[in-house]
Amino acid sequence: MPGVLLVGNGAREHAIAEAIMRSGHDPKLFSYMKTNNPGIASLSAKSLVGPYEDLPAVMAFAKANGCEFAFIGPEDPLNLGVVDALLAAGIPAVGPKRKLSQLETSKSFTRDLVRKYNIPGNPRYATFTSLEGIAEFLDELPGVVVKPDGLTGGKGVKVQGDHFQTAAEAFDYCKEVLQEHPVVVIEEKLDGEEFSLQCISDGMTVVATPPVQDHKRRFVDDKGPNTGGMGSYSDADHCLPFMRPEDVAAGLAITQKVAEAIYRETGDYYKGIMYGGFIITRDGVRLVEYNARFGDPEAMNILPLLKTDFVEICRAVVNGTLDRLPVEFDKKATVCKYIVPKAYGLPKDHPDAKSTSAKIDVSGTGAARLYYASVDRKADGLYMTTSRAIGVVGIAESLDEAERIAESAISAVKGPVDHRPDIGTRALIQRRIDHMKKIRG
Ligand code: GLY
Repeated sequence: MPGVLLVGNGAREHAIAEAIMRSGHDPKLFSYMKTNNPGIASLSAKSLVGPYEDLPAVMAFAKANGCEFAFIGPEDPLNLGVVDALLAAGIPAVGPKRKLSQLETSKSFTRDLVRKYNIPGNPRYATFTSLEGIAEFLDELPGVVVKPDGLTGGKGVKVQGDHFQTAAEAFDYCKEVLQEHPVVVIEEKLDGEEFSLQCISDGMTVVATPPVQDHKRRFVDDKGPNTGGMGSYSDADHCLPFMRPEDVAAGLAITQKVAEAIYRETGDYYKGIMYGGFIITRDGVRLVEYNARFGDPEAMNILPLLKTDFVEICRAVVNGTLDRLPVEFDKKATVCKYIVPKAYGLPKDHPDAKSTSAKIDVSGTGAARLYYASVDRKADGLYMTTSRAIGVVGIAESLDEAERIAESAISAVKGPVDHRPDIGTRALIQRRIDHMKKIRG
């Protein structure tokens, strides 16, 4: 009966907790959370709430409960060095050491690594530590993406045409970034369709999970501000309707080369999740960015489909034996839609602002899976807090049916919630297909 430490408290970690507890090895889950997640707590033998910065508390909790290994859900504890601390205490982890988590935390580290090892996938880019040369580089590119070199909770990346229009505005944003970050990365803006390819790595072997498409914008038709992700879908054939199988293969090949490059560069094996955000352009698959963890919501699409025992996968990652374990997924389609407080993504003075702490009733949600994110269970029921509340996942033979299951569950939720009804629908997916046809010519 292995003890497993899970660090994190979002819907992604709720899905990870569920995957761990489905194991045939009868694991006991010990959860360290920044704020209590009632869904994770209900699956745990014991849980502890505390700041991620308190690494001694995380280690003490894992040791006191005899944890065999740890699974680190979010990027913040990776960036704080939780894996290094656990390893020093003799507890291996699924999650990279701090230095290797730069794959996510430093956009320049990853771009420079990909360039140095001649791995395909980089767009044109340059990094700057001062304003010198920025105006000239901006003049060379018809459209750019500006990225602060550090963790910004998904809010720092700004795209020309969306967040700003002119080269002068791009320059001003670079200036703003350099006041807070040592490096700014400027990249050529690419046109195409994006997909998330979450890969599992033991440092030598890299295994892809089914590709997923996320929807970052708050409102229907991809309008409104960027969010952590309003929902996502995956298809039964483990491809996406606008993709070709060779696009998935290209994303995996890039990730395999990056894992190898990380080893050659650092002398350490990358053990954990390499979540590549890719874009399919007219010139092929390009790398948008890597994250050193599962996606949220994308984890909720792929983990419920896992046929291989998740504890065995984690053991293979920490032991470096992933080459000997076939990792298999159900051939089913999934649609995940987040229900959020109506105020989510709205200005604080909006009349719907009080919905952030409203009570919700999720009884009667039928066949869908519910993964709790920012919710609090009180004596009289479930309350939303400030952010995305619950990931609602429909799983079925087809996307149409998976979408119907998710929608039907959401329509049964009582409370001032909102969601994106368009995610996973035929109409929206057809737009992606048409876009990709146009791109490929
Ligand atoms: N779905 C976006 C992310 O997890 O970063």
